[in-house]
Amino acid sequence: MRVLVTGGAGYIGSHTVVALVEAGHEVRVVDSLVNAHRASLDRVRTITGVDVPLHVTDLRDADALGKIFADGSFEAVVHFAGLKAVGESVAQPLRYYDNNLGSTISLLQVMERHGVDALVFSSSATVYGVHDAVDAMPLREDLPLGAVNPYGETKVQIERILTDVADADDRLRFAVLRYFNPVGAHPSGLIGEDPQGIPNNLVPYLAQVAVGRREKLLVFGDDYPTPDGTGVRDYIHVMDLADGHVAALAHLAEFPGANAWNLGTGRGSSVYEVLHAFERAVGHELPYEVTARRPGDAPVSYCDPGKAERDLGWRAVRSLDQMCADHWHWQRDNPNGYAAD
Ligand code: NAD
Ligand code: WQD
Repeated sequence: MRVLVTGGAGYIGSHTVVALVEAGHEVRVVDSLVNAHRASLDRVRTITGVDVPLHVTDLRDADALGKIFADGSFEAVVHFAGLKAVGESVAQPLRYYDNNLGSTISLLQVMERHGVDALVFSSSATVYGVHDAVDAMPLREDLPLGAVNPYGETKVQIERILTDVADADDRLRFAVLRYFNPVGAHPSGLIGEDPQGIPNNLVPYLAQVAVGRREKLLVFGDDYPTPDGTGVRDYIHVMDLADGHVAALAHLAEFPGANAWNLGTGRGSSVYEVLHAFERAVGHELPYEVTARRPGDAPVSYCDPGKAERDLGWRAVRSLDQMCADHWHWQRDNPNGYAAD
């Protein structure tokens, strides 16, 4: 298939581009580079041997996007582009609504104009909101949606827009993929997550502790109602996630309208379990200190991934140790991310 990947120079996008190219798709990327380096796609070329064209364009520029569509005759779009930092979205809500909703609406309009009917969208576990009850797990796709911050609200609203747009035109096929906690990197160590500034997420933070860029991990609370008191999440290897997009594209024709699938492992791991898995990857202990809970954090979040297995024939196969080993490989080989390129 000829596929346009928006946000394809970013973390999950670049890994998915590798998986799509290896599955035989013809891929182009559009990315504003607001949170990415073009070096990621140079590395994709090293991994795959294929030069994936990059259009440096903001999706909200509908005229520029239209030219890319006119040239590309795409059969499907995989839409990663968006801003994703929860704290930043609380501080800059308008920027988040404008970027995430604006770019999706512009993309859908250009797709309509060019007769492109198939879209895979990056949604998130954040659309389920925060469930304080541990017995609300596992999270299933038919739960009511409710975000607790502007970033999450953009995902909920985009899901609603996709449903409305698909309801109005029975040719459309939209796969809404709700990612749990993506971590890890391509096993080559050539591409990976390269956060700007202080990482918000556990594994990128731990990786920077391990490489000496941060002094110690701060564990946000050890008094949750979980087996060891720390927060539990459903971490998923980014290459499993990438494969989930290939599976969604392969099965999209069978599912008219907008349909949602969880992409996770279905297993929860605590902060201490992740810390110890990362220590095994690095080969020594890592410093940490327990601090207060982070406001807005759920005690536990993990999914039921059964719908994706039944419908898309996909399930996550990589272990937490593999996630940490691959994440560490990337961070060790690229202590400052893509900055040196
Ligand atoms: P990322 O920031 O690495 O990738 C997003 C890419 O989109 C970046 O390359 C950025 O430059 C680009 N972009 C942003 N706004 C754009 C615009 N208006 N026009 C063109 N390009 C634009 O993030 P990621 O971790 O790879 O996430 C990819 C998608 O998955 C995002 O939509 C994110 O919300 C979603 N998601 C991520 C996680 C996670 O924990 N990483 C979890 C759930 C969902
Ligand atoms: C995991 C666990 C923390 C950092 C966030 C977004 C969500 C999604 C993915 C995109 C929690 C603990 C963390 C640290 C810690 N993004 N922690 N010390 O909160 O599940 O999800 O990223 O859609 O929207 O909210 O992931 O990696 O931040 O936290 O103790 O320095 O690690 O309290 O229990 P989270 P996370």
